[in-house]
Amino acid sequence: MAESMQGLHRTARCAEINESYIGKAVTVMGWVQKSRNKGGLIFTDLRDRSGILQILFEEADCGTEVFEKAARLRSEFVIAVTGTVRSRGKDANAELATGSIEVSARELRILSESEVPPFPIENGIKTKEEIRLKYRYLDLRRPELAKRIMTRARIAFLIRQFMTENGFLEIETPTLIKSTPEGARDFLVPSRMHHGSFYALPQSPQLLKQLLMVSGMDRYFQLARCYRDEDLRADRQPEFTQVDMELSFVDVEDVIELNERLLRYLFREVCGVELTLPIPRMRWIDAMNRYGSDKPDMRFELPLLDVSEAVRDCGFSVFSGCVQAGGYVKGLCVKGQAGMPRKQIDAYTELVRGYGAKGLAYLTLNADGSRKSSFAKFLSEEELSRLIAAANAEPGDLLLFVSDTERATVWNALGALRIELGKNLGLIDRSAWKFLWVTEFPMFEWSEELGRFQAMHHPFTMPMDEDLGLLDSNQGAVRAKAYDIVLNGTELGGGSVRIHQAEVQEKMLEKLGFTPEKANEQFGFLMQAFKYGVPPHAGLAYGLDRLAMWMVGSDTIRDVIAFPKIKDGSDPMMDAPAPVFDEQQLSDLGIAVLGEENSEQ
Ligand code: AMO
Ligand code: AMP
Repeated sequence: MAESMQGLHRTARCAEINESYIGKAVTVMGWVQKSRNKGGLIFTDLRDRSGILQILFEEADCGTEVFEKAARLRSEFVIAVTGTVRSRGKDANAELATGSIEVSARELRILSESEVPPFPIENGIKTKEEIRLKYRYLDLRRPELAKRIMTRARIAFLIRQFMTENGFLEIETPTLIKSTPEGARDFLVPSRMHHGSFYALPQSPQLLKQLLMVSGMDRYFQLARCYRDEDLRADRQPEFTQVDMELSFVDVEDVIELNERLLRYLFREVCGVELTLPIPRMRWIDAMNRYGSDKPDMRFELPLLDVSEAVRDCGFSVFSGCVQAGGYVKGLCVKGQAGMPRKQIDAYTELVRGYGAKGLAYLTLNADGSRKSSFAKFLSEEELSRLIAAANAEPGDLLLFVSDTERATVWNALGALRIELGKNLGLIDRSAWKFLWVTEFPMFEWSEELGRFQAMHHPFTMPMDEDLGLLDSNQGAVRAKAYDIVLNGTELGGGSVRIHQAEVQEKMLEKLGFTPEKANEQFGFLMQAFKYGVPPHAGLAYGLDRLAMWMVGSDTIRDVIAFPKIKDGSDPMMDAPAPVFDEQQLSDLGIAVLGEENSEQ
């Protein structure tokens, strides 16, 4: 039967007790990790979020009643123990942070009993993640996961401290708002009081933080919950947290300078890593051309090589035809991999096909001078030498090529192949922290689906001064004052300088295909605000989950989110989303659910 803790006060957390407590009386509380009965002695490992502490029940010291109670202890019982700290002397356990001491118990209360948990509460378990998430509260007791959540809390604290010290105000913005276009699908919330109308959950506080600049708040930040209804990946959740900021009277350099200091502070305090500043920068076009990605992983090289000119007139019509039609032939020179099995090359061919490439042409330069290739037979010796020279290849190397009339297809296919090769061939230096600013993004990207240009970042991003004139003449070539911060191939954050002139904003919306009526309907409140004096402003937002993921050394953001969702967007613990069974609740909202397909897939 559970006892009360009345009259007891916890002295310290388990692992906070150290040798300075020897000889002192303490009261500790926590969960039983394990309890071993060795005849007249019971050893109990007590756990809380700080760690583990050994408790010793000795019948001669604690008396028969306490001893018998201790004999009933099972894993995950919650107990309070009062006793004296003493040295373990030569029995010290080097594996445990508190291994040189123990508590000799005098009093024991069982505050709560526990059933046998569905998986062991310890590090390194093999239990399926789905089960762990169903019992997430138990999973969170496991030290390795608890530590990650605690590190995230520390990161959040340090961010608040840094931002506050740098003149930022922490301001909350509403989460029941009007849809702001950020590119993903909105989550909608039906309004009871306004039949047929919906709030949207913010994909980010973008427009609200701009309005805070109009209101003179000057420097804003927030750890903001954001919601995007998109397919999940290891670094994507439908709800996530941004470290969101906006600054008045600044340009690109100011935002970058501040954020470099913030990152240096965080990595120094949390990871003990000293960042070298300034963080390198790369223009978007160079990142795409060299690495086939706007978030290149700089922990290894393996650059994309452009061999278009070398194959323009060659006998392999896939290549020459493509270049002559204005297309591109690019490749990777994989050092020392001439011996790669054909099956592996076939697997990589499938990979690039997944990114829209029509094939993967290969050429191996064996050390003995022989070659193997899917296309060399179409090339003369001279054409082949020209290609090999253009790729800077040597005996022992493997060359892989993709050609396409769309440069994006070549970039995406080879960019993905580069990452896969980097992983599979062990080219990635896992101990490196490679930060990169990617700058000068295109303002627009063409959407085949919509048949018009879309904003690559968002419609409030300022074009580069020197490209403003291109808005009418060559829209696709306009670059934006936008920047992303990339870490080890992950997009940690992104931002931009904003448009602060009503005329430019109106023009931008027109270029994005908004009629004046549609623009007014969606952003009328912003356009209205822009009539009353707008400071030049700029900002940035990090994915806090992604930042924390890297800082704790994990490869999924689920590890730094207390209650994350699984791949299909559901929460296996609460069983959300769930049908609403109370018809009244739905009819109050004016909602009827159509068909069966909405319930479960
Ligand atoms: P952006 O859309 O680039 O910019 O988002 C900023 C950062 O948020 C993180 N992020 C996510 N993290 C987890 N799950 C997701 N589904 C997810 N989506 C985005 C990424 C990303 O870099 N308003 C602008 C910022 C600005 O211009 O100031 C914005 O939202 O790490
Ligand atoms: P084929 O003549 O179609 O058998 O192609 C010969 C080789 O070229 C095969 O290895 C194909 O995978 C490859 N290939 C075909 N189209 C492309 C392309 N667009 N880019 C790169 N390789 C290609």
